[in-house]
Amino acid sequence: MSENPRQELQELVAGLESLLKFQRRLGWVGTPRPEKSTSPPSKDAKTTRPTLAEIREEMGECQRCKLGKGRTNLVFGEGSPQARLMFIGEAPGADEDLQGRPFVGEAGQLLNNMLHKLGLRREDVYITNIVKSRPPRNRDPEPDEVEACLPFLFKQIDSIRPLVIVTLGRIATQNLLDTKEPITKLRGTWQKFHGIRVMPTFHPSYL
Ligand code: URA
Repeated sequence: MSENPRQELQELVAGLESLLKFQRRLGWVGTPRPEKSTSPPSKDAKTTRPTLAEIREEMGECQRCKLGKGRTNLVFGEGSPQARLMFIGEAPGADEDLQGRPFVGEAGQLLNNMLHKLGLRREDVYITNIVKSRPPRNRDPEPDEVEACLPFLFKQIDSIRPLVIVTLGRIATQNLLDTKEPITKLRGTWQKFHGIRVMPTFHPSYL
């Protein structure tokens, strides 16, 4: 991978493009993903695989950490519950906090461009963050805040079961993978999270 962040983004897009091309040929991407089961979910499956709506409901007007007090809107995430590709950022910024939607500010423009280049719409993928409430002055989320929020991200991942997760930036990468390895080392290299392929990259706002 390149040392130049812009080139890095182009390379990431190219890499994802070829992966998606392959998956499209298999009929995995571009057409709605088949429902997880054709028969009604068993009681067991329901308890182990909550829907996104159920996870959102469980979060409620979350006050599990100190970020709850300062936010305008909780930013849960959005996109397809059957997404093959999931993007995980760090935390909502000012625009996201106001709108209650992830990546709608400047960094979101870059993400939208990336998706456009991949021939995807936001509705085809799933986009969320490590923490769901805006940290004051956009500071990094603190360990207790991440700890309070991560279980909900894990549930979202388990509900969607994407084929590939792209982590956007250091905070998303290190917290998802539970590592202190620098992003400069991890970005552009395939990692795994519970059997799901993870591609760490720089955060769009850095790029
Ligand atoms: N940056 C992030 O990490 N997430 C957002 O939702 C917006 C900006």
